[in-house]
Amino acid sequence: MAPDISTVGGAPSQGASAFQIAALRRAGIAQLAAASVPSPMADVDLLACFVLGIERAELKLRELRGESFSAFEAAKFNDLLAARATRIPLQHLTGQGYFRYLTLKVGPGVFSPRPETESVVQVGLDFLAEQRLENPRCVDLCSGSGAIAAALATEAKNSTVWAVELSDDAIGYTRANCEPLGVKVLHQDAADLPAALEGTMDLVVSNPPYIPPNAVPREPEVREHDPQMALYGLGEDGLQIPRAITAQAMRLLRPGGLFVMEHAEVQEHSAAQLLRDAGFISIAGHQDLTGRARSTSGMAP
Ligand SMILES: C[S@@+](CC[C@H](N)C(=O)[O-])C[C@H]1O[C@@H](n2cnc3c(N)ncnc32)[C@H](O)[C@@H]1O
Repeated sequence: MAPDISTVGGAPSQGASAFQIAALRRAGIAQLAAASVPSPMADVDLLACFVLGIERAELKLRELRGESFSAFEAAKFNDLLAARATRIPLQHLTGQGYFRYLTLKVGPGVFSPRPETESVVQVGLDFLAEQRLENPRCVDLCSGSGAIAAALATEAKNSTVWAVELSDDAIGYTRANCEPLGVKVLHQDAADLPAALEGTMDLVVSNPPYIPPNAVPREPEVREHDPQMALYGLGEDGLQIPRAITAQAMRLLRPGGLFVMEHAEVQEHSAAQLLRDAGFISIAGHQDLTGRARSTSGMAP
């Protein structure tokens, strides 16, 4: 006889328990959807996994078996859902941000890493792979959580990586995520780096602040919780900081080195012009996984 799926393995099923995973999960999805959270199902699952200390596949299994949260776990889960329904970012609730192969420490005061930046890193990694450098030297300007620098340090073989971040609130996260990987962290203005680094880099990657002052983000998670310093690029077009970063990148690169910078989709042409004005050649635009033009690269002559 086939076993009753609700009684196989794990904690005994509590039948109609008020804390059943399936029921709380369903209620959670409805609660977050009502609060217009963009991805209610994914967020509910990640919060449940966070509370239970398990992976998503295991959560599915426990749900299928009809298992329940303990009363303590259910209370914690419901508190987190209530906080998420006020549009506190998921990453601030769990203290974790996922980026490529890494789980990074994030929280209030630091920009939460985004999937589109993963594609920006890929442009840099592809360049390094083509160049077959034995010991590539890379720098991440405007590092925030250190997502880009940490990805380069773990994915570019034998690389030496620098991370540069100005914010006093973010720098603790940069250090926590990067220093264990051997990344050299500089707490300073990325547009004004020591002359000793000039002409020494093979690759400069940056996701600087680039939002114009009149383009305040609609999502409360971004508008109210990402640091202002991480969002707004200053100047009417939001490109004052990207312009300074582009000039710095040109100073840092050795001839033939590559600069890749993230920007908004609507800044595609202005970003290319910025790189041209700074003297870059072989300028190319790159898309993220959804096909949006989200970064531009150029080579130092
Ligand atoms: C859009 S966030 C990007 C963070 C991270 N690189 C990422 O992709 O997730 C921009 C970061 O630049 C930092 N920043 C702003 N102006 C800076 C400057 N002049 N020098 C260094 N960092 C700066 C902000 O504090 C913020 O952490």
